[in-house]
Amino acid sequence: MLDPVSWITENGQIVREYTKEIDTCQGKLRLIDQTLLPEKLVYVELDETEAIFDAIKRLVVRGAPAIGCAAAVGVAAVVRKSASQDAAVLRQLAITTADRLAESRPTAVNLFWALKKIKDAVSGIDNAAELRSTLLQTALNILDEDIAMCRAIGSFGAELLKDDMTVLTHCNAGALATGDYGTALSPVYVASENGMNIKVYSDETRPLLQGSRLTAWELNEAGVDVTTICDNMTAQVMKEGKVDMVIVGADRIAANGDAANKIGTYGVAILAEYHNIPFYVAAPYSTFDLSLESGDEIPIEQRDGDEVRKGCGKLTAPEEVNVYNPAFDVTPNELIAGIITEKGIIRAPFEENIKKILG
Ligand code: MRU
Repeated sequence: MLDPVSWITENGQIVREYTKEIDTCQGKLRLIDQTLLPEKLVYVELDETEAIFDAIKRLVVRGAPAIGCAAAVGVAAVVRKSASQDAAVLRQLAITTADRLAESRPTAVNLFWALKKIKDAVSGIDNAAELRSTLLQTALNILDEDIAMCRAIGSFGAELLKDDMTVLTHCNAGALATGDYGTALSPVYVASENGMNIKVYSDETRPLLQGSRLTAWELNEAGVDVTTICDNMTAQVMKEGKVDMVIVGADRIAANGDAANKIGTYGVAILAEYHNIPFYVAAPYSTFDLSLESGDEIPIEQRDGDEVRKGCGKLTAPEEVNVYNPAFDVTPNELIAGIITEKGIIRAPFEENIKKILG
């Protein structure tokens, strides 16, 4: 599987799980630069707050769980780099770094979930070496836990699939968006491993093309049969009877099951409803925000209009034209057949069942 987020030691060892041995040397956050895919597979190594902030903001690393993992490992890297032997100074550095990274993107709740874990972990530690170790251990545990959650989501989701089925997905909620295996794509990977022939339609996902650049790339690399379509082709493909099920990821799910995901997901859900195709959301518990009653309260990231005006670096609209560029939308729970989590598939009534399963 891919390793979009990992820890690289000063000796070049790539690590996704904490051990005492790696604790004895320096290290950095290592990311696949997803802005360069599918053209080039390039890794970047980071240990400075602003560089990590920029990587999250520019979508070098993206996808809700991967953002959370990267931010946690990033804080560990920044603190490791500091020469200070004063635990209070290092604790403060961890907190200011976490606060800065929390400003990078507002919608994916996994970011805030992971940073809270990091901040909680350093509170009350008065020894510099212990503080550094605890940070690295906490960060790598978040990554490790995410990997386990992805696999569990895959096992539950695969039970919905049958041989020769076709799944449509939007954006990228695959290995690149998580520790590994992904959320929405995990059932596809697990079913394929179990010998099923599963085909995927991957919506291109304007404006940043995560569906064609990333989902199509990673499924292709994994040997899964994938077909990319432009976003405005989804209705036609559904009408032609080519889609058996939709599975998408999520950036934040409210207590009533309303789910925010990449812009365009809501439209896909409406199309699925019209064509009688079950629409599933796949997400771990770190994507749920039970403090929000409904999706209306989920903050939606607004991004630079140039992402629309200059698609792939080319002028695709007049330079001076107004652009509205929300990065996410919210699918209301009544359009969702089920939410595939690492603890099982949650179905309506969502509010009650989310509390029961994740409460
Ligand atoms: O803007 P992005 O690329 O970070 O948006 C990603 C998505 O919308 C994903 O579907 C979501 O984060 C789930 S990833 C498992």
